[in-house]
Amino acid sequence: MERIICVLIGYLFGLLQTGYFIGRLNNVDIRKMGSGNAGTTNALRTLGKRAGAVTLLGDCFKCVAAVLLVHFIFGNGAADLLPVLSMYAGAGVILGHNFPFYLGFKGGKGIAATAGLIISTTNIWIVLICLVAFVGIVAISRYVSVGSLLVVSIFFAAVVILGQNGYYHTTGRYLGEIYGVAFFVVIIAFFQHRENIKRLIKGNENKIGAKKK
Ligand code: G3P
Repeated sequence: MERIICVLIGYLFGLLQTGYFIGRLNNVDIRKMGSGNAGTTNALRTLGKRAGAVTLLGDCFKCVAAVLLVHFIFGNGAADLLPVLSMYAGAGVILGHNFPFYLGFKGGKGIAATAGLIISTTNIWIVLICLVAFVGIVAISRYVSVGSLLVVSIFFAAVVILGQNGYYHTTGRYLGEIYGVAFFVVIIAFFQHRENIKRLIKGNENKIGAKKK
């Protein structure tokens, strides 16, 4: 039951579509512009740097907020269950962000929310590694999608490495659940980037700083 509550809490936080609302403030539907994605990259692409930065912060910290709320609600319960519940809350945020019911289930791709999950469920070294890897790969390739998919993959590897080293203070089935939810986050990210992947293969993916093809 706690798991379902955490996914629902996360889903509700995920519904706060920062990029979509900033678009609305500018009298546009961001989902009908650029790549059609209601996320940071498309906000940056279509509405400018300030909108991109606000979208990144809003979408990232709604995930941190959801995990903090779960800690507040369930923090006095079994300590070994809390990291599992945090992961479920984060996955819920990503689902709410990517599939908001009030926008016809068409939202973003969940990468800024995943950044929030990385911040709230791993450690500073993993956050720094993800940041350096993302900035480095985007600077070299100019493809945000490649950086995004790299970061979610690092996230999954990090969760497994941290889990094997006792970081989550939990074992057995709970640890398996943590890995399972982290893997689900990776699958969702690749699924949401399926059009980006097709464009990358064809060689016509949108480059950051260039007009959408
Ligand atoms: O986080 C989304 C990014 O990886 C790709 O965004 O708008 O180029 O599809 P976009």
